[in-house]
Amino acid sequence: MALNRRALLKTGAGLTAAMLAGGLRNAAADQAAGSDKVARFGVIGLGNRGRHLLGLLARVEGAQITALCDISTENVARAAGIVAEAGGGDPARFSGSPEAYRDLLARDDVNAVLIATPTKWHCPMAVEAMKAGKHVGSEVPAGFFTEELWELVRTKEATGRRYMLLENYLYNRHNLMIWQMARAGVFGEPYYAEGAYLHDCRFMLFKPDGTLDWWGDWASKHYGSDYPTHAMGPLCKWLGIHEGDRLSHCTCMMSRPRVLKEYAAAKYGADSPQGRIDWAMGDYVSMTIMTEKGRLIRMDYDVNSPRPAEFPYVLQGTKGIVDSRRGIYIEGQSPHEQWEPAAKFQEAHDHPYWRRDGARAEKAGHGGGDFFVIRDLVGMVRADREPWIDVYDAAGWSVLFDCSRRSIDARGAAVEIPDFTGGRWRDADWRRDHHRPA
Ligand SMILES: NC(=O)c1ccc[n+]([C@@H]2O[C@H](COP(=O)([O-])OP(=O)(O)OC[C@H]3O[C@@H](n4cnc5c(N)ncnc54)[C@H](O)[C@@H]3O)[C@@H](O)[C@H]2O)c1
Repeated sequence: MALNRRALLKTGAGLTAAMLAGGLRNAAADQAAGSDKVARFGVIGLGNRGRHLLGLLARVEGAQITALCDISTENVARAAGIVAEAGGGDPARFSGSPEAYRDLLARDDVNAVLIATPTKWHCPMAVEAMKAGKHVGSEVPAGFFTEELWELVRTKEATGRRYMLLENYLYNRHNLMIWQMARAGVFGEPYYAEGAYLHDCRFMLFKPDGTLDWWGDWASKHYGSDYPTHAMGPLCKWLGIHEGDRLSHCTCMMSRPRVLKEYAAAKYGADSPQGRIDWAMGDYVSMTIMTEKGRLIRMDYDVNSPRPAEFPYVLQGTKGIVDSRRGIYIEGQSPHEQWEPAAKFQEAHDHPYWRRDGARAEKAGHGGGDFFVIRDLVGMVRADREPWIDVYDAAGWSVLFDCSRRSIDARGAAVEIPDFTGGRWRDADWRRDHHRPA
């Protein structure tokens, strides 16, 4: 699976017009059929991820980029070049301070924002954007702390703006196919799921000048499962979380930090300021989560260890199992005790998004997920509709970081997970008006 963030960073935002020729435009037109509204985006945060998404967004039918914002003037200029290359004109530019985004939010020619800043900004920016009347597409996770996530949910409800979490891993071919299969009952009733984000991200800790980058600064002060949505998002959709079930409580344990100290010492010297950092983030974090309906989820997280990247998913049901590392086994259908390749199930269960646009999606990054997540974001704004990955999913999955931290502090004791839906999860159909990929 082409899900390696390092590979993505290497390719940067430089998607060429040729790669995307005919790419998103026609597909998005299908998606937002019936809507003649133009989505006018302001994009905030134009680093590696922001520029990559901008390159996709700039080519979606019915989307215009009207404003750009980053603290870095240079990053804004690079981003303006991407918009111009896509034939998108010359957006207004804001830079020079961490608050420059407020000038972007004040503009009448912006009706939606895409936020791709470092994570600590996601919640405050989304809240301010919705109060300013803008729809929001936010990079993952939605935020870190329980209180700010409550504020996010309450602001969305009070303003009536649309909010979508840009959780791209849901949209890769395998994960959308498993969503189809789970809903069709192929695995029977699912009762156990496993997800992990295992990705050596030590290269993101320091800037070239040796000072801590935002990711490293965070890891030096905080610990826990702080990037949970890639692992949890697909599992929650497969299990129907927030649609008849919800995450109830969890436990978490973490190995003590070792790897980062050794890494910094090897890179800068044991007696250097970097080598002397006492990192807060442990090397391996493991969470166990129970749902209200008594189903069990395990989520592992490791972004520091020397190892090849892997993003495995497991779903076990009463009739069979999928394990993304091994394949699929359906009792009575698969040869006894033998895994079958997942590709064998594609003809019967491939998701319509992939049947229609798979070849083009594959070129867009992150196993095709980026293509569909941006297309759905534009569809949300143009049609003014609730998205598939709404604010309740966003808050409910992202809050696992805060829960993991509290459980670690309590030596692995169980911690309650907040119910951001206010009990609405009990009705499996309460989101019936929301968009669903189809
Ligand atoms: N969905 C995915 O697969 C995926 C992949 C990579 C990153 N991400 C997420 O995207 C976000 C950005 O990551 P990145 O790798 O692009 O980081 P980055 O450091 O490359 O870029 C962040 C940018 O935000 C800018 N910025 C910081 N504070 C700002 C502010 N107050 N106002 C305006 N701009 C500000 C910085 O100058 C920088 O250009 C993170 O939250 C990360 O978790 C998601």
